[in-house]
Amino acid sequence: MTAITATAPGKVILFGEHAVVYGRPALAAPVSGVRATARVEGRPPGSGTLINAADLNLTLSLTEAAGHALALTLKLVLKHLQMDEPDVLITLRSAIPIAGGLGSGAAISAALARAVCAYLGRPIDDAALSALVYEVEKVHHGTPSGIDNTVICYGKPVYFVKGSHPQIIHVGRAFELLIGDTGIAAPTRTTVATVREGWQRDPHNYETLFDRIGQIARKARGAVESGAIGQIGPLMNENHALLRSLGVSSEELERLVEAALGAGSPGAKLSGGGGGGNMIALVEPEQAASVREALIRAGAARVLHTTVQ
Ligand code: PMV
Repeated sequence: MTAITATAPGKVILFGEHAVVYGRPALAAPVSGVRATARVEGRPPGSGTLINAADLNLTLSLTEAAGHALALTLKLVLKHLQMDEPDVLITLRSAIPIAGGLGSGAAISAALARAVCAYLGRPIDDAALSALVYEVEKVHHGTPSGIDNTVICYGKPVYFVKGSHPQIIHVGRAFELLIGDTGIAAPTRTTVATVREGWQRDPHNYETLFDRIGQIARKARGAVESGAIGQIGPLMNENHALLRSLGVSSEELERLVEAALGAGSPGAKLSGGGGGGNMIALVEPEQAASVREALIRAGAARVLHTTVQ
């Protein structure tokens, strides 16, 4: 059989992280410029499946690595297809920075599942793929809302409410974001647990904060759909302030957000779990270079550029 390659993009959460775990809406967009790629090719009959994650310097066979997330993804794929272990080599690569809230794990799982299904002649649709990757996300994150797998598998901007069918949103006018990486790996599990502790201590206050974040996400959806880009920056700033109140910002994130605003960005916020990881800054095309420079000066380990469209 001919070799098959499939990809999946990274993602950023635009609005509503954390509150989304508590049933409020959130908005997320794919980052198409950084992708995970899986290539599947045949191996001799009876040789089984070998997974080669080149960037992680990792080669594992399905039988030896039963507990690994990549092996789990493959097992879920085979269960979905009701097929036995195929004789294939799966080569994985990813340009998505790891552990920074850009969805690298979900994208690798999505690319792997998509490529294996296509190779075996049973292409998987976006909804089934998203459900499968969600199962893998649960192993990584404990209680994920499902937003990461959704935006990555559909590859389109989404308005997401936990437990509901995701709504693909039409972007009225494209806008540009810089993604500044603090360089600090921050497990989502940890900040999700921090918020949960706060919520258990002071449910009234936290529910109020979640409500306000949810309202921002709803307004932001309207602004994105109608192309009212002027409203997006201030909404990002409000959302960031509420995330700070939830206790998930950090000194480094604050420094990057301030640097972006100081260099003329109309709105900036942490994106994803927080505690480190990435922030996003809205930019007009002509501001992008100076905001990027300010982010680097303020200590960003890496700055990516993406267009939400
Ligand atoms: O995976 P991350 O770090 O981009 O963030 C996940 C977003 C949270 O709302 C914090 C958690 C979730 O499951 O939705």
